[in-house]
Amino acid sequence: MRILFCRPDSPQDTDDRLALEADALDELGVRHDAIAIEDVVDDDLDRALAPLGDLDDDVLYRGWMLTADEYARLDAAIADRGGALIVDPDAYEAAHYLPSWFAAVADRSPATCWTLGTDAAEAWALAQALGPPPYVVKDHVKSAKERWAEACFVPADADAAAFAATCAALVDARGDRFERGLVVRRYVPLAPVDGAAGERDEHRLFFWRGRLIASAPYHDVDVADPPLAPFAPLGRAVASPFFALDVARTVDGRWIVLEIGDGGVSTLPPTMDPRALYRAIVAGEVRA
Ligand SMILES: Nc1ncnc2c1ncn2[C@@H]1O[C@H](COP(=O)(O)OP(=O)(O)O)[C@@H](O)[C@H]1O
Ligand SMILES: [Mg+2]
Repeated sequence: MRILFCRPDSPQDTDDRLALEADALDELGVRHDAIAIEDVVDDDLDRALAPLGDLDDDVLYRGWMLTADEYARLDAAIADRGGALIVDPDAYEAAHYLPSWFAAVADRSPATCWTLGTDAAEAWALAQALGPPPYVVKDHVKSAKERWAEACFVPADADAAAFAATCAALVDARGDRFERGLVVRRYVPLAPVDGAAGERDEHRLFFWRGRLIASAPYHDVDVADPPLAPFAPLGRAVASPFFALDVARTVDGRWIVLEIGDGGVSTLPPTMDPRALYRAIVAGEVRA
């Protein structure tokens, strides 16, 4: 197995995190290479992959989010060179796009609806089945949570026009990376973390080939682990060998699933040791 990092050509914040992962892989003796996301997005895969030579092994993608089309083209280019992505395009689709994974966790996740396209009136009409706002809006893979009040959160007193304005701001924030359609979710107040400024009690769990291999608080906070046993069976509920499951504690003490994501494009929480994650991946070691 080798790890294929994919990140912007010009270093940014996320690079440092991937650099930490690269160091961990060096310690473990796992081969890793890096390609530029610009080449993948521009469909210049010869340029991206040529320096890597033959890829006659299993390749695990780690890096920035790709669209399903970009991921499928990368998969084909790797296959042309004799290799194979461990997470194939179907598996990427299964864990990356909310409409693909939502049914697997619908009984423990906020009520949700979605559209194809950016028609806010259609989304508002569908959302009436969730009950009245507050809601959270995002696209099929990502929110604009950095612009929470303007482009993510729909308050209790919002009408159709206010909702449409939030959707428009979301579409604007996501720009040419907007994915497929609008997702509307019922807002469920999450428990704050004691002593942390504004952080909620959220955790990210990683699954490898059906097994829970790592978990850590999503934010850099000192907080107890969630109960893991109720979530462990979900490892088989998503048709992907590598995915992340984000869980959160509500103000009334319930643990819910917030989202699922492809493991390869999910950032490691700040307190998760990449060596532990990769050791579990490589050796099949389980820490659950
Ligand atoms: N339904 C919800 N109720 C309450 N808070 C939510 C809900 N959905 C998302 N959030 C909050 O917004 C954040 C971002 O939402 P998320 O769906 O994880 O989007 P992203 O894909 O951008 O990470 C979450 O980490 C959580 O704090
Ligand atoms: Mg998230």
